Amino acid sequence: MKFKNIIKENEVTDQSLYKSRRNFIKSASILTASTIIGSTTANAFEIGKHESTNKYTIKNEAITAKKYASSYNNFYEFATSKDAPAELAHTLKPEPWQVEITGHCKNTGVLDLDDIVKKQTLEERIYRFRCVEAWSMVIPWLGFRLSDLIKQLEPTSKAKYIYFETLKDTEQMPGQYRRTIPWPYREGLRMDEAMNELSFMAVGMYGEKLPNQNGAPLRLVVPWKYGFKNIKSIVKISFLEKQPVNSWNQIADDEYGFYANVNPEVDHPRWSQASERRIGAGFSLFNPRIDTLKFNGYGDYVADMYKGMDLRKYF
Ligand code: MTE
Repeated sequence: MKFKNIIKENEVTDQSLYKSRRNFIKSASILTASTIIGSTTANAFEIGKHESTNKYTIKNEAITAKKYASSYNNFYEFATSKDAPAELAHTLKPEPWQVEITGHCKNTGVLDLDDIVKKQTLEERIYRFRCVEAWSMVIPWLGFRLSDLIKQLEPTSKAKYIYFETLKDTEQMPGQYRRTIPWPYREGLRMDEAMNELSFMAVGMYGEKLPNQNGAPLRLVVPWKYGFKNIKSIVKISFLEKQPVNSWNQIADDEYGFYANVNPEVDHPRWSQASERRIGAGFSLFNPRIDTLKFNGYGDYVADMYKGMDLRKYF
C-alpha cells in the first residue's frame, strides 16, 4: 500500500447531497441517522418504514465529501494507485450478484444479493474509516448488520471464524492480471467480532448504491479496524473452524496482522499510527494531523473482545 497524496482541496460534505439521494432498494425498510445530517434525511427515502437513530454516528467531525470517498480508493483488483479505481471500475458488473455461502452453517448455498438484502433492515451509519496508511475519512454507509445475516445463515458451534472472498474475474477486474495480491482478495473475522453490533455489510454510501470503486455491490465495514479489513465486492462467505488467511497478512505478515485493530500504540514499520490525516480537509498546513484513537474511537463497543490479549503480538 503505497501512499500517494492526491487530495488538495478543502471540502466537507454538502448537506444537499442528502436531498438528492435516490431510493434504490424498494422492499427494504430504512433506518437513518437523522441527527447528524439534519432534517433533510427524514424525507430522503419515501419507501418502507422510516426509523431514526443517533447511535451510530459521528458528532463534531465533518463527513468526508463523497467526491473524495469515491475517488481516493484502494482497490488493487483495478489498480494500485488511489485515483485509478474510480476511472477503471466501470468494468465491474454489480448486478445481478450472487454470494456463495459455505462451511459450518445450516444454510449453505448460493444466494442472490437481492434476496439477502430483502430480508434485512437497511440503516445508515456514519463511521470513521482509518487506513493503515494513516489517512482517514468519515463515511455515511447504508447497509445492514452482519450479525443479522449470520443469524439467518445459522452457523453451527464449529464456526469460530467468518471468511470473505472478493470476486475473482480478470474480465471484470483487469488488475487481477497482475499478481500484486494472490487473488482473490481474502479477509476474515473471529465470530465474536463478526457478531459485534458495529460489524456492518454496506450496500450503499451517501444514500446511494455503492460506487464500483468502493466495493459494489456488497462490502464489509468494521470501523474499529484498519481499512484493509473492509473487503470489497464480496462473492463468498464461509464459516470456518480455524483462523483464515487474510490477504495483506499473507503478503507481509510482519506488517499486517489478522486483527488489524486501529491502535496508536503499535506502529506499522512504515507508518506511525499515532496520528492521521483527514482526507478532503485541505492542505497539510490547514489540515493538521489528528490523534488516532484506540480502536478508532470505538473502544466502548469492542475493547472487551480483546481483554487479556497482547495487542502488540496480535496486531
Ligand atoms: N478489498 C478488495 N477486494 N481489494 C482491495 O484492494 N483494499 C482495502 C479495502 N478492501 C481492498 C479491499 C484497503 S487497503 C482499504 S484502505 C479499503 O478497502 C479502501 O476502501 P475505499 O476505497 O472505499 O476507501
